[in-house]
Amino acid sequence: MTSPHPVLTSLPEWQALATCRERLENRSMRALFADDPDRSARYFVEAAGLSLDYSRNRLTEEVHAGLMSLARGCRLEERRAALLRGDRVNTTENRPALHTALRSPGTDRVTVDGENISAEVEATLARMESFVQEVRSQARTGYTGKAFTDVVSIGIGGSFLGPRLVTEALQPYQSPGIHCHYVANIDGTEICETLANIHPETTLFLVQSKSFGTRETLENSRAAKDWFIERTGNTQAVASHFMAVTANKTAAQEFGIARDNIFPMWDWVGGRYSLWSAIGLPVALSVGMDNFRALLAGAHAMDTHFRDAPLEKNMPVIMAMLGIWYGNFWGAETHAILPYDQYLRSLPEHLQQLDMESNGKRVNLQGLPLQHHSGPVIWGGVGVNGQHAYHQLIHQGTRLVPADFIIPLQSHNPVATHHAELFANCLGQSRAMMAGKTLDEAKAELAASGMAEAEIERLAPHKVIPGNQPSNTLMMEKVTPETVGALIALYEHRTFVQGTIWGVNSFDQWGVELGKKLGEGILPRLLGTADASADNASDSATDHLIRLFRSANGA
Ligand code: F6P
Repeated sequence: MTSPHPVLTSLPEWQALATCRERLENRSMRALFADDPDRSARYFVEAAGLSLDYSRNRLTEEVHAGLMSLARGCRLEERRAALLRGDRVNTTENRPALHTALRSPGTDRVTVDGENISAEVEATLARMESFVQEVRSQARTGYTGKAFTDVVSIGIGGSFLGPRLVTEALQPYQSPGIHCHYVANIDGTEICETLANIHPETTLFLVQSKSFGTRETLENSRAAKDWFIERTGNTQAVASHFMAVTANKTAAQEFGIARDNIFPMWDWVGGRYSLWSAIGLPVALSVGMDNFRALLAGAHAMDTHFRDAPLEKNMPVIMAMLGIWYGNFWGAETHAILPYDQYLRSLPEHLQQLDMESNGKRVNLQGLPLQHHSGPVIWGGVGVNGQHAYHQLIHQGTRLVPADFIIPLQSHNPVATHHAELFANCLGQSRAMMAGKTLDEAKAELAASGMAEAEIERLAPHKVIPGNQPSNTLMMEKVTPETVGALIALYEHRTFVQGTIWGVNSFDQWGVELGKKLGEGILPRLLGTADASADNASDSATDHLIRLFRSANGA
């Protein structure tokens, strides 16, 4: 990250795209398909076990070339190299962002400040391997000698969303003996409901926190530890049942976790990119280390593709630039993630954190206000269910909603014709979004049903679907450790590319601090140990709501 980022909106490449946008204003995707029979072959790319059909976009050859020129104008290749070799791309925290090093084979030597971090990564993987092996083979047991049957992972944000997504995604690879639970929320319901269903003698607790300073995680871990001691009456047994993954070993030890029970994290891994580190332990415990390594290999295959493929054929780059196209030139404010696979149900939530925490930024690397929009609202949900909910807005609402459909070609659970039905739904939705239904088509359809002319005139406008809603279709043979790894890495790189174009730091998250700090000032007021004079969050609304809370809680 040497020279300053160019003023994006003044770049000739930006201006050229603005002109392309005007030219495409009245040209529908339907027309683009009609004019170009090779479109689906032209806009198709494969990498790391994933295939991307991006033909259903407001895209012409001119736009495609223009988007790639913009990427080059923003020195994407130079910045990609800086990221991958471990430059301090996180400039506000003065750190590299080396999540790719966590999944690169030990033979690829990566250094930070002259230190060989690949060796540390390998050593940690080896430690994870023997730990996972001991637990799964029951060589390591709870304090009464009983095998571990439950793992409770306590963490939030990146220390929760990635591992939970992958645990769910790889359910077909899980060994029956170990059940993973996740606790993130400070709402006492989550920890209570989790503890109600497990037994202390057979439960392993993993405290997952890079900083070991996150209140939600610490309070939940304390509650778990108190519950454990109360149930077992054995303080010593904590040592065999509580583990931590953290970059703050001292705090973990002060909390009462035995030194040997702490797995490392590093400053050069961002929280939302940490699933590939020992934060992935719950995944490894449930699917075994071979599958965890396969997950890393899938991600690494995507890293290699991202590093080596020309921009025009580069899957993360294409997806990122299409996002820029809609967000910055067509006014799209959201991007929908629509996995048509039950195992991938938590993907939208993980990508929400990945993307919105990374690119929800308002100044560039020099601290100057952006002259254009940055990251969109990421949302979505598991396919088909959404068709009976928010798809209505996509089809007939007033907003532009670009979407990614994600679907495996084969199911792990081939029930009757279910998978073909699922696939048909997915294709039907993307086709409807692209082609829509014209007024004439709506009228013809109603006429074919024998409807009277006046009624047709009245109803037809309600049946029109404008179409021209863009989408990508991402496919994989099956949901496997490799394809899940590649899929998540794909979106990580997509996020990085977009942050590079916008010229923001995608690796910090200062925005989350203010609310946290204010909450810390409010807490003693709720508990009655401080009054408004000690709190700089005092205003009439806050004060009123604090009074309501206190009177409802007997204060
Ligand atoms: O929400 C802010 C954040 O810092 C995330 O980036 C991070 O993943 C999460 O909190 C949890 O942090 P930690 O792992 O340090 O507990």
